[in-house]
Amino acid sequence: MKGVTILGATGSIGMSTLDVLRRHPERYRVVGLSANTEVERLAELCRMHHPQYAVMADARAAEQLRERLRKIDGGIEVLAGAAGLEIIAAHPDAAQVMAAIVGAAGLVPALAAVRAGKRLLLANKEALVMSGRIFMDEVRLHKAELLPVDSEHNAILQCLPILDGKALHELGVKRILLTASGGPFRAMPLEELHGVTPEQACAHPNWDMGRKISVDSATMMNKGLEVIEASWLFAVPPEQIQVVIHPQSVVHSMVEYVDGSILAQMGSPDMRTPIAYALAWPERIAAGVQRLNLFDVARLDFSAPDLVRFPCLRLAYEAMARGGTATTVLNAANEVAVQAFLDERLAFTAIPEVVEAALIEVPSRAASSLEVILDEDARARQWTQELIARRAA
Ligand SMILES: NC(=O)c1ccc[n+]([C@@H]2O[C@H](COP(=O)([O-])OP(=O)(O)OC[C@H]3O[C@@H](n4cnc5c(N)ncnc54)[C@H](OP(=O)(O)O)[C@@H]3O)[C@@H](O)[C@H]2O)c1
Repeated sequence: MKGVTILGATGSIGMSTLDVLRRHPERYRVVGLSANTEVERLAELCRMHHPQYAVMADARAAEQLRERLRKIDGGIEVLAGAAGLEIIAAHPDAAQVMAAIVGAAGLVPALAAVRAGKRLLLANKEALVMSGRIFMDEVRLHKAELLPVDSEHNAILQCLPILDGKALHELGVKRILLTASGGPFRAMPLEELHGVTPEQACAHPNWDMGRKISVDSATMMNKGLEVIEASWLFAVPPEQIQVVIHPQSVVHSMVEYVDGSILAQMGSPDMRTPIAYALAWPERIAAGVQRLNLFDVARLDFSAPDLVRFPCLRLAYEAMARGGTATTVLNAANEVAVQAFLDERLAFTAIPEVVEAALIEVPSRAASSLEVILDEDARARQWTQELIARRAA
């Protein structure tokens, strides 16, 4: 029986993880669940899964949850805030921790799990984008096991032999082919993009996801963040990562070898497959996913990304080339701009403009410590908020 903690249990990845876990009660038990403000949903999950701990990042929400859970007989301990997240991330009863908080807020609790030497199932790509080198150094130092949950990175893992400390070039890998659906606006006339609404941006054609990552998919910033994530996870330079537009979302990514072979991982677009693979690796367990019918799929299309339509992808490559805290600034400015778009304070096409301005105006520094990263994140957020306010005035 392995204990599992889920950071961000009320989100899309958190709920899919719980769905996989409940299919294997003989293998897994839930140790900790967390949410930010969704008290009712976390209370419901506590009733279903009986964790030892429930954490609300928001202190007032924790009080409300405590009140709701008083009626459940099961002795669930309710904790609050950043301290509560770190306690469940590092708790000795949890061998595995799912990092599924969205955005920069997920970095510190994910690092707490790494420092406690856990198997970390990483959905929160922003953690690696913000602090790649420091994060990977901590993984090595604390002998944590880092398993990617992002479907692309999980697919790459599935197409590689067990690494055993070897570099990818020693295994004959030539490049990584990172697939992208192209999102809902892949074919929309460019002049119509300005008027796109949050509802349109969140209606992804193939994947059902949280709102922030849905907007990132629509701008293709998501793919940019994933290139950065892949570069740190697999220790490959960005030039060896090719983004490939593949609208069917059936091939989740590929690895090209020096002998001309390309290995692809395919399946229905359902996050329960990569979640199950990361949970059970190197074994495989049932995930409740509908099997892929190749006759229904019938054809697979591949094309090169359009960097004019999707400037966010170009910005991610540029931030990586600059190095230091530039990717921290990229991530912070993007989070602020996406929230402003979702709140209808910023046009869809202004997201890359704002991020580009932040990359130019907020000077990057050497990413020498977690404190520097968090400081830079706060600085870039404030700068971006002010820019958006000035644009609205
Ligand atoms: N969804 C996907 O298919 C998918 C695929 C690949 C990677 N990912 C990555 O996985 C992560 C989660 O994505 P998602 O789509 O599951 O997001 P989501 O549905 O928006 O869920 C986010 C979760 O994080 C919690 N949360 C939000 N802000 C927080 C804060 N400040 N402090 C603590 N907890 C906070 C939310 O709690 P409340 O419910 O209380 O707000 C919720 O549990 C993201 O990094 C995303 O890029 C997602």
